[in-house]
Amino acid sequence: MDLTRIIEPLCSWYDRSKRDLPWRKDQDPYHVWVSEIMLQQTRVEAVKSFYRRFLQELPTVEDLACCEEDRLMKLWEGLGYYSRVRNMQTAARQIMEEYGGNFPDTREKLLKLKGIGAYTAGAVASIAFNEPVAAVDGNVLRVITRLEKDPRDIMKQSVRTEFDRRITEALEKTCGGSVTSSSFNQGMMDLGAGVCLPNAAPLCGKCPLASFCSAHEAGVEMDYPKKKAA
Ligand code: ADE
Repeated sequence: MDLTRIIEPLCSWYDRSKRDLPWRKDQDPYHVWVSEIMLQQTRVEAVKSFYRRFLQELPTVEDLACCEEDRLMKLWEGLGYYSRVRNMQTAARQIMEEYGGNFPDTREKLLKLKGIGAYTAGAVASIAFNEPVAAVDGNVLRVITRLEKDPRDIMKQSVRTEFDRRITEALEKTCGGSVTSSSFNQGMMDLGAGVCLPNAAPLCGKCPLASFCSAHEAGVEMDYPKKKAA
């Protein structure tokens, strides 16, 4: 399908019904980055208190760059996957040295930082800087494969790269006014978390995209996405 059709309906749904989350109170790129790294392997409810404490203790990227190892590990205790915070400190030092402490403001520059891949670069570039770029995670893969009854294996990098390109092209064409890449990408996160559910019947009656959805039309939502590779 032409993905430009879903952008405005999803943004307007997000504006009406977005979750009230601590990292949505401002667009500071350091804040957005910290939240996205924490959310990679930890649930939203658990992240909230860690996020607040981390930023209270380390309010700037410079504070993170200079933080003693013991103190940093203590701040991450309970979140697990400590390589995440070690990579963040390496990236914070890169930002201090290569950018004089000014957060890099494009997806392309963000991709060069330690620990930042396609999803995180897209999330930070869109949420903090409104760059029209995709942030393809499991939610996006589930929503789009259901919309299109796409039988391809979402574990394949080629499928992810294609979705990234098509969403980015659609955002480039449609963004403006209240239609933003920030609302679209965060709308996908909220839709995936609360409506287009992964492990239970989706709540299609509440979905702003139901009228575009091939899987819904055929009553086969739960057959997608297909995951073949282990
Ligand atoms: N999961 C990953 N990033 C998120 C965000 N910014 N808001 C809610 N859930 C998320």
